[in-house]
Amino acid sequence: MGSRAEFTCKKHLFDIAEQVTYLNAAYMTPILKQAADCGQQAVAGKLHPWEMSLSNFFDPPEQACALMAKMIGAMTDDMAQIPSVSYGVALAVRNLPLLPGQKIILLADQFPSHVYPWQEMAKAHQAEVVTIARPDNGDWTTPLCDAIDQNTAIVACPQAHWTDGSRVDLVKVGAVARKNGAALVLDLTQSLGVVPFSVQDVDPDFMITACYKWLLGPYSYGFIYVAPRHQDGIPLEENWIARKGSEDFARLVDYQPQYRPGAARFSVGERSNFMLTPIVLHGLETLNQWGAGAIADYLSGLTDMIAERAQAMGLKVADKAHRSPHLIGLDFPADMPAGLAVSLAQRNIFVSVRGHSIRVAPHVYNNIQDVENLFSALEDLL
Ligand SMILES: Cc1ncc(COP(=O)(O)O)c(C=O)c1O
Repeated sequence: MGSRAEFTCKKHLFDIAEQVTYLNAAYMTPILKQAADCGQQAVAGKLHPWEMSLSNFFDPPEQACALMAKMIGAMTDDMAQIPSVSYGVALAVRNLPLLPGQKIILLADQFPSHVYPWQEMAKAHQAEVVTIARPDNGDWTTPLCDAIDQNTAIVACPQAHWTDGSRVDLVKVGAVARKNGAALVLDLTQSLGVVPFSVQDVDPDFMITACYKWLLGPYSYGFIYVAPRHQDGIPLEENWIARKGSEDFARLVDYQPQYRPGAARFSVGERSNFMLTPIVLHGLETLNQWGAGAIADYLSGLTDMIAERAQAMGLKVADKAHRSPHLIGLDFPADMPAGLAVSLAQRNIFVSVRGHSIRVAPHVYNNIQDVENLFSALEDLL
């Protein structure tokens, strides 16, 4: 694993033209050029299915789980493949107890896939959803920890808020949740891969992520970590490959009541996903080699610079103590000029606009020049 001093911009590994300033990883990242080669080979494999072997069904998804497990300090058997965050949250809903009158705690403006399932679950059990209001100082951790009590069944939150990167201290939240007997369900889609995280430190019940953002992966592919205490739970579907002995294709109709070990039962049907898995593998392998710590250090150098330039222009940003290293919201005190994102895009500068703020999300392909490009355009347009 490298350090910030050694880590350098990786733009050359991506197909990003010199004139493009892409600061929108929180929306979707490009995959690595080499991952695209892996994907093309995988697509070509379907031209000749007779050349496929049994190992294509089992080895690549197993390897993907192993790489994801390595990233989060888990065991390969703790991981399952899911097609979306909503699928992962549905698994958590299915496997967590909730009594009438108990609380499910969320953050304000959380991503809908990590809100609707909890609202429906609360309705079905006559329980209550409690939403932590957006704190003025950017500190979610204190009010979230304060809200967790003995009547809390579930805490469902991210590590970095998707709208502006304001951070949640999951080690603290995990400890308070455990002390109160509450389950912790994490959606780390907006931080995993570029911000260090370990299940050893946080001990979530479920950790869910999509791959198409910070993990440099394809759409429709994600992972769920299922804590060992839930691994005898109920899957959302009963697929053949999740059952013990499924590698013996000749005996699939010797119906098998037992599942494969660990979290395998929770994987989505057709988890082998021949075309997408090689792309996922390349992204995860590369990120594991670089290490989330080194990437976070590198990106915080960029977001610190962005914060400083934004403040100099009169825009508001969260305090450094409550910001993530990779994702920052630039808040307009008054109204934002109409069509700002479009005007920036016309200059080949890509960011997202969320409400009153611009969301800037650099990844390993960004560098100081990109920050310069963004601010010289903003100075021009504002
Ligand atoms: C925090 C977060 N979670 C999840 C998703 C995607 O959810 P799903 O996989 O259910 O479409 C997004 C997409 O923007 C997100 O920002």
